[in-house]
Amino acid sequence: MYTTSYEMLEKAKKGGYAVGAFNAENMEMIKAIIAAAEELKAPVMIQTTPSTVKYGTLETFAAITRAEAEKVSVPVCLHLDHGASFDMAVKAIQIGYGSVMIDGSKLELDANIALSKSVADVGRACGIPVEAELGKVGGKEDDTESKESVYTDPDEAKRFVEETRVDSLAIGIGTAHGVYKEKPVLNTKRISEVKEVVSIPLVLHGSSGLSDEDVRDCVKRGMCKVNFATELRQAYLKATRELLAADDSIIDPKKIGEAAMKAVKAQVEYRIKVCGCDGKA
Ligand code: 13P
Ligand code: ZN
Repeated sequence: MYTTSYEMLEKAKKGGYAVGAFNAENMEMIKAIIAAAEELKAPVMIQTTPSTVKYGTLETFAAITRAEAEKVSVPVCLHLDHGASFDMAVKAIQIGYGSVMIDGSKLELDANIALSKSVADVGRACGIPVEAELGKVGGKEDDTESKESVYTDPDEAKRFVEETRVDSLAIGIGTAHGVYKEKPVLNTKRISEVKEVVSIPLVLHGSSGLSDEDVRDCVKRGMCKVNFATELRQAYLKATRELLAADDSIIDPKKIGEAAMKAVKAQVEYRIKVCGCDGKA
């Protein structure tokens, strides 16, 4: 079922679990994510970054995801991840994305508020939920790079949500995008502190490489959407490399796609269980 993220995130907030949000780069990853969600009866979000959109276009990702989602019973939401501008976010809404993020986290607070509010206003008018980010996730995701990760200030978060009226909020607690070179120091207490003053669902970015224990702690404290990108790319490429190393006679791209889908599906199933959203659809 192709849907928005309103209901699945509200249910997650009430139920004390998180919806897994998985980045896809192509049809194989979309199919693998949906197959995992259907098998585990989990609501799921599929997300595309600006560079992925540049590679495949919003229209194509929306068409593939909608066609695949309509074959299954679980709710599937297509989300624009790290939307880079007002125009990009609005275009995703027009094309049929079920959720969009506007990432103004590199801006000063007032400018981030103004940008996020402008997208939230359009989203509300169109019935599409909007995620924004306050504080910073470290590392590199797409063209978004931050040297250090900055913890979100709870007072700023309260003001930000009141003024922007966004539907969900990504906050900085010490995670980073990409591969961790050393174990991250997470300020999970900060999630509880923000949750005290903000009632909308909170979102965790940079989740690849976090231990099961850390993810569960973040979810218990109030994260309702947990984003995984790097781990899926790694699973996809590991399976591809292994297959080609084992058999250099392969000439059918479908053989590579099948092996990659199997690996991505297994990784998504594992993370769905860690997020606790299996059986919640
Ligand atoms: P990772 O690449 O660390 O999993 O981060 C995912 C993410 O936050 C996507 O927005
Ligand atoms: Zn992210």
